[in-house]
Amino acid sequence: LNSIRKEYCDVLIIGTGIAGLYTSLNIDSNYKVVVLSKDKISENNSNLAQGGIAACFSEDDDINLHFEDTIKAGNYYNDKKAVKILVQEASENIKKLIKIGTNFDKDKDGNIRVTKEGGHSKRRILHSKDETGKEIIRALSEEALKRENINIIENIFAIDLLTVDDKCLGVLVKNEEEIYAILSKATVLATGGIGQVYDNTTNSIIATGDGIAMAYRAGVEIVDMEFVQFHPTALYNESDSKRFLISEAVRGEGAVLRNSKREAFMEKYHELKDLAPRDIVAKSIFNEMLKEDKPCVYLDITHKNEDFIKSRFPNIYKMCLSRNIDMTKDYIPVCPVQHYIMGGVKIDYFGRTNIQRLYACGETSCVRVHGANRLASNSLLEGLVFGNRIANDINKIIERIEIENYLIENEENYKRIDKKQIQEIKVKVKKIMGRYAFILRSKEGLNKALNMIEEILNKLDGCKEDSKEFYECFNIATVAYLIVKAALNREKSLGSHIIVDSLEEFKDA
Ligand code: FAD
Ligand code: SIN
Repeated sequence: LNSIRKEYCDVLIIGTGIAGLYTSLNIDSNYKVVVLSKDKISENNSNLAQGGIAACFSEDDDINLHFEDTIKAGNYYNDKKAVKILVQEASENIKKLIKIGTNFDKDKDGNIRVTKEGGHSKRRILHSKDETGKEIIRALSEEALKRENINIIENIFAIDLLTVDDKCLGVLVKNEEEIYAILSKATVLATGGIGQVYDNTTNSIIATGDGIAMAYRAGVEIVDMEFVQFHPTALYNESDSKRFLISEAVRGEGAVLRNSKREAFMEKYHELKDLAPRDIVAKSIFNEMLKEDKPCVYLDITHKNEDFIKSRFPNIYKMCLSRNIDMTKDYIPVCPVQHYIMGGVKIDYFGRTNIQRLYACGETSCVRVHGANRLASNSLLEGLVFGNRIANDINKIIERIEIENYLIENEENYKRIDKKQIQEIKVKVKKIMGRYAFILRSKEGLNKALNMIEEILNKLDGCKEDSKEFYECFNIATVAYLIVKAALNREKSLGSHIIVDSLEEFKDA
């Protein structure tokens, strides 16, 4: 047995997005909390959030309507108790977020302004212009950095969970200098999403599904991986697969989707037209693109006042302008891209997994609150509500837990793999997923994808290269495998998971 260095803390949280930071702030200040980020604190999906956070703050709204909208968008596949918790505990957690220092947009009388997004029957999205995530992460990280019991470590990569007898004792990590172990009484996976498994995504570079892959390797239950959400409107650009999001709030403020003939087409597909739930809008856009054989459709907000557009969506306006699109006068070319995953590490109502002392929170986790298609702006909310519950559970039980030592086996001999091969494998997985596990899936395509991904995993198995790139590549391939396997197991379409015999058949529908 080798003598790897070990560090100790009470609570170890992997992730500095909304889920990780908010959980850390709700842990009792007597406990030593370590929070890890594999990049800078703010490099994550939370920081990119645009539209906002859903909660009933207007007088004509109530939580029963929020509940109904959530399960309708989720195709009634949601866990109803989880949804009740989400809507009931929304406002107390948002009030806490405001107390921590988050500024949401207000009207001239000081009342919080709420906007609309797809699938919501009321205006209920609190926002900070079109950069809500940036404002939330600013406030949460400033507060966490002030707290003496919280130690945030940046640029540190969690490789694997350290588990013994169905118990999680901590995590193996790597920084620029060394690999070492952080042992804890409780560990929280708040590692975010999986966007980098696809070639087109709105997600941050960090979204390589590390938490889900790590949990899977440790024998933690993973569920609902077939439910990948594709956002209807990312800015289309011929030469760039990195996709900038055009927030659903732009449609919430009146923008209309048009095809290349300038026709507003959503009324053909759903009574809520441009504000139908996301799975329906993405599918409808994809259908128009296939019918017209075009790579995008268009978003038109040119009928709105120029000053309103510039002040309500300053960041989107600036980004479009940098691509020579003046959204106050021009249509914005948009296309659907990977955005979110509804599935993940299975948790109960307190964020507990099937491994003792291991919790999961945020996009990495799945309590089935979003069903088969997440309602817009419910993800930031999930991070708050369940982060708070996890912290409360840990605060209750932690006194009774002892830190246990973990013996790390000497590494065996591994086959080497070089950086070029790693890069090629990543590109290959993304291509396979973009082709066979995108908005429309067929059994034949998924089987092809499964064979190719299994081959890649066999190649990676037994290889080793002590770099973040290698571990991320392994995680991307593992998550791709989990998505394709789950998609094959669900033979009928549901929500974001759409099975067709062929693309032609869909075009004629
Ligand atoms: P993240 O915020 O992604 O954080 C993950 C953290 O885990 C990062 O700090 C990362 O460094 C760390 N990490 C990951 N792997 C490792 C590892 N191996 N070792 C160490 N650290 C690791 N939702 C809404 O509700 N409203 C919106 O308006 C909205 N807009 C969005 C806009 C965009 C462009 C995107 C991409 C998503 C949007 N979403 C929105 C979804 C929402 O932002 C995310 O689902 C949510 O923020 C996820 O939060 P999280 O804390 O789970 O993960
Ligand atoms: C958006 O602003 O369109 C994203 C909202 C979300 O993902 O919930």
